[in-house]
Amino acid sequence: MASLDTPAREQWGSRLGFILAAAGSAIGLGNIWRFPYLAGEGGGGAFVLVYLLCIIGIGMPYLFAELSLGRNSQRNPVGAIEAIVGKRSLWLIVGGFCVLAGFVILSYYSVIAGWAVGYAVKDVIAPGLGFGDFVASPPLVITLLAVFLGITLLVVLGGVEQGIERWSKILLPILLVLILLVIFRAVTLEGAGEGIAFYLWPDFSGLTTEIIIAALGQAFFTLSLGMGAMVTYGSYLSKKENIATSGIYVVVFNTVIALMAGFMIFPSIFAMDMDPATGPALVFIVLPEVFSQMPLGGVVSVTFFVLLSIAALTSSISLLEVVVSYFVDERSWSRKKSVAIIGGLVFVMAIPSALSQGAVASLSEGGIFGDTDFLSFMDYYVGSVGLALGAFFLSIFIGWVWGADEAAQEIMQGSNLSARVLSVWMFVIRYIIPLVVLIIIAGYVTGTL
Ligand code: PHE
Repeated sequence: MASLDTPAREQWGSRLGFILAAAGSAIGLGNIWRFPYLAGEGGGGAFVLVYLLCIIGIGMPYLFAELSLGRNSQRNPVGAIEAIVGKRSLWLIVGGFCVLAGFVILSYYSVIAGWAVGYAVKDVIAPGLGFGDFVASPPLVITLLAVFLGITLLVVLGGVEQGIERWSKILLPILLVLILLVIFRAVTLEGAGEGIAFYLWPDFSGLTTEIIIAALGQAFFTLSLGMGAMVTYGSYLSKKENIATSGIYVVVFNTVIALMAGFMIFPSIFAMDMDPATGPALVFIVLPEVFSQMPLGGVVSVTFFVLLSIAALTSSISLLEVVVSYFVDERSWSRKKSVAIIGGLVFVMAIPSALSQGAVASLSEGGIFGDTDFLSFMDYYVGSVGLALGAFFLSIFIGWVWGADEAAQEIMQGSNLSARVLSVWMFVIRYIIPLVVLIIIAGYVTGTL
């Protein structure tokens, strides 16, 4: 509560500012690195179609739920839950998990984002170095991690309106222009048509349960759901804002960027006769190879990795903001103190991830994590399973403990959805989402992913 001696809690400066900041959180490595490789592995068009269904049927209604929980209390995920069930409830653990997940995801996310930064300037800092040697070089990866995390800290230090909102408004339009430039180059390559066909023509023969589960998991990751980022961003919304319309803009914007990423990547890959199904290495190994063979490839490569870094930055600031908002709201730390202390801890936490790609054998594949490495281990257990669990408990909390009708009333403030639409939404929150998420978790547990 704002009183005379504590300054009022910050809010977004404008509706567009909120939409761009939330879209910036959603648009990230998930759209440009993860989505294309999943689509490449999942048979192209068939994956894309299932992904779109998951976004519209599950991701979007659940996004409204997280935004309404945040706006209701105007607090971070822990505070938002506490405002409903009080200080002594076990549900606070779910809020605590959100803060912890933000912290952990930010640590390894910054490592991958650091690679993107490094690849943007690779001709200057490490010309000719292959991906394997690049990511196994401790001085390189740790410096790049520090650079990327440092920029993230600076933006969040600026606060909600002067930091996050201002930079999202500057960076997202730049991102869009850069993507259009790369698409233009990609689709004008000779032989690009085959890639476009692979990407758009759904071939359902290869559609497996694994692919459907992956598409669902991707819907949560790409919309920044399941760990309270959208609760936190929703908490800076005023009661006048329309959650439904703004949420739809975020979903549309995020989906358009993911689809555009496919148009940058698949035409290039097919034009250069490469394999689209190479997994996480697609963007860092296959693409540079593709770029090196195409006319104007040097410029396209720099452009691509700059845009990947920008996309990652507008997401990493939202991960950090979840943790910072907790310490600011609940522990009364200043923003400066929170950013400094949390930033330092995230950096330390990121070091094992940074060193897990060959630099330190025990952290890398074949070490103590068996056939995976520290970074992939964290991404799997926190970034995939963790988000699914988070979404499960948060949807139960919102649908049953807080109450879908209360949440619906929160959404109604500032918007004018019909009673029919709202009752469908309530049904989805209470039944469909927990059920579907349970299926994803069962999939993870039985090891299909
Ligand atoms: N949505 C981001 C991406 O696609 C990742 C993210 C997940 C950000 C969870 C915040 C919270 O890259």
